[in-house]
Amino acid sequence: MRTHRRQAAAGRRTAVLRREAVLATVPVAVAALLGAAGPASAGTVGAAGAGDPYFPLSGNGGYHVAHYDLTLRYDTTTRHLDGTAVLTARATQRLTRFDLDLSGLKVTDVGVEGVTAGFRRSGQELVVTPRRALAKGQEFRVTVAYNGTPKPVTDPDGSADGWIPTDDGAFVAGEPQGAMTWFPSNAHPTDKSSYDFTITVPEGRTAVANGVLLGRRTAAGRTTFRWRQSEPMAAYLATATVGTFQVERYTTRDGIQVYNAVDSREANAAAPVLKQLPSVLDWESKLFGPYPFRSAGAIVDHAPSVGYALETQGRPVYDAAPDLNTLVHESAHQWFGDSVSLTAWKDIWLNEGFATYAEWLYSEQHGGDSAQKAFDALYAKPASDGLWAYPAGDPGSGQNIFGTPVYARGAMTLHELRKAVGDRTFFRVLRTWATDHRAGHGTTAQFVKLAERESGRNLDALFHTWLYTKDKPSRP
Ligand code: ARG
Ligand code: ZN
Repeated sequence: MRTHRRQAAAGRRTAVLRREAVLATVPVAVAALLGAAGPASAGTVGAAGAGDPYFPLSGNGGYHVAHYDLTLRYDTTTRHLDGTAVLTARATQRLTRFDLDLSGLKVTDVGVEGVTAGFRRSGQELVVTPRRALAKGQEFRVTVAYNGTPKPVTDPDGSADGWIPTDDGAFVAGEPQGAMTWFPSNAHPTDKSSYDFTITVPEGRTAVANGVLLGRRTAAGRTTFRWRQSEPMAAYLATATVGTFQVERYTTRDGIQVYNAVDSREANAAAPVLKQLPSVLDWESKLFGPYPFRSAGAIVDHAPSVGYALETQGRPVYDAAPDLNTLVHESAHQWFGDSVSLTAWKDIWLNEGFATYAEWLYSEQHGGDSAQKAFDALYAKPASDGLWAYPAGDPGSGQNIFGTPVYARGAMTLHELRKAVGDRTFFRVLRTWATDHRAGHGTTAQFVKLAERESGRNLDALFHTWLYTKDKPSRP
């Protein structure tokens, strides 16, 4: 019998398989970039993108967002979303104009510092012209009122990403670019912010976001949930998943507030796995250092069209009851990806390779196969296998970021590192990485440097072979 648990594990890999089916190249939106930036007032105009070649229009230039205050109302029957976003930001340059990322939806009003601002839409850019220019270093508030029927974006690998309607609500995940389908944002992981969410849904439905639940109130057939994510979070990790959920709440021995929301159709399959969450977090905390957030949990939705889970901050969202491997994987992302964030999508192996290696370590330390065995099984694949199709540390385009080389070869890279430097040093490197970059960012170059410092060895050849060449490496 094929269990829901198994399906979920396969689900996480669906995108990987899809990628291999899609061969088209992605046109780089250079024209859109130039168009949105405009030639005339360069220097005081915020760039239309954060400068990431894989997703040139994700994020924006000229400011950082410190805080998002999102007020949403979702009608699960009509699938209409009403939103107000208040962003508290700081200009990093003088700004006569700046962009937010927003795809679809109708914007009805934009204000900057309480004064109505000019705005226009240009593809996924919401171009805002404040009445008065913002000075470099100035803190400012942007208010955007918007509404409409959110639609997910289709990622270069063919997967749906963003606000994905379900039969009883919406599965909301934003990696890599779906945040813009439901709130105006600076949607690149280089920008991390705190969040407040106030989400109103029909009575009987539950709206689950990140962080801690501040309160819920029901009036006139609607329930409003207030959530707060106080630790810095990348926009792609935000969620506001809505469904008919069974809710479970408790506090772990370490004082972490757990909130699980489970679709009844997944409840039986999810229960034994979710029961392991505290012990998985505990085990990972011993390995990687203290759990980085004050809240945790899981959103187990019934969203058969989605095909993947996402490590939404503190509280991953699963498209179906996860198996234990998937729970371990998404939990490991809380350290690797969520707390320590990417500065460029090219470095995605720092997320996926690490989370995959966490699965191998979990198995090894819980009576299952050793990491060496997992490595060997992959290494046995012929040179023609998709595993060796492109370099894990340089997957080449947004189409490849969730492919097998990133996950599997990424994990193999860590295993090679472990063999080269020995367990003591290896585990110290992992822990130091999570600790030193906690609530911040990390690059591959920084990771290599750390590994070299801790081991006292030159590891250029190892990383070059495993991360930056394609083709199957010869036996070391
Ligand atoms: N980071 C997710 C994981 O845990 C995968 C997200 C896939 N997203 C997508 N749009 N295909 O592996
Ligand atoms: Zn992952």
